[in-house]
Amino acid sequence: MLSIKNLHASIGDKEILKGINLEVKAGEIHAIMGPNGAGKSTLSAIIAGNENYEVTQGEIFLDNEDISELAPEERAHKGVFLSFQYPVEIPGVSVTNFMRTAINETRKANGQEEMPANEMLKVIREKSELLEIDRKFLSRSLNEGFSGGEKKRNEIFQMAMLEPKLAILDETDSGLDIDALRIVANGVNKLKSDKNAIVVITHYQRLLDYIVPDFVHVLYNGKIVKSGGKELAHELEEKGYDWIKQEQEA
Ligand SMILES: Nc1ncnc2c1ncn2[C@@H]1O[C@H](COP(=O)(O)OP(=O)(O)OP(=O)(O)O)[C@@H](O)[C@H]1O
Ligand SMILES: [Mg+2]
Repeated sequence: MLSIKNLHASIGDKEILKGINLEVKAGEIHAIMGPNGAGKSTLSAIIAGNENYEVTQGEIFLDNEDISELAPEERAHKGVFLSFQYPVEIPGVSVTNFMRTAINETRKANGQEEMPANEMLKVIREKSELLEIDRKFLSRSLNEGFSGGEKKRNEIFQMAMLEPKLAILDETDSGLDIDALRIVANGVNKLKSDKNAIVVITHYQRLLDYIVPDFVHVLYNGKIVKSGGKELAHELEEKGYDWIKQEQEA
């Protein structure tokens, strides 16, 4: 599904990603952990096509197609979804309208007809129930005045609506209360299928008790320096990043 080969990226003259290799297959959940400033959000932004970064070397493939040169919307239409660490507010656009537009844009780009209004309402109802989202919430302006946790939950709601092939969740757990964490994680688990893949970026092992990853990677100073199974997350929680640092310096 996702294949990243020797990805190097910079902003200005600062190199942030220094040769990332990552293979994510359909049906898999990968977790990316790593200290602050390691390049996790940069990596996810670049996969989604953020143009503030310059890719200086390497390629990104989605289902064997090189998407490195595609615009963010084109990648979204091909099924790449990024949930942001800091979601933006869009005053004047309701959650429902935003979703309707996003879904129909994608359908249009893929040569499909718009989703009929009654079907749209049905899907919105279904998915908002899945994520235990209050109906009143759906008519509010996107993210405007949403609490931190509401923004995160709404992002997963968007993901549920769009059913992306590849979902990247950047610190979706930060700021969620314990119930919201469970609801969001359950939502993600229910959306998991053998046709999609999920990459979760997190600082805490806790999330991975709910969303159990097949692989855990440590991103450190712009590179993936360690990969393993879910036990790696426990090891990190226990030992911190010092041992990784020592290994890197040795
Ligand atoms: N627009 C920018 N201008 C300058 N430096 C940037 C910019 N964007 C990212 N960086 C730098 O790139 C590095 C990686 O940042 P990134 O946000 O990817 O880290 P992260 O691993 O997501 O960290 P965190 O765990 O704190 O979210 C940091 O040192 C950051 O300051
Ligand atoms: Mg980040």
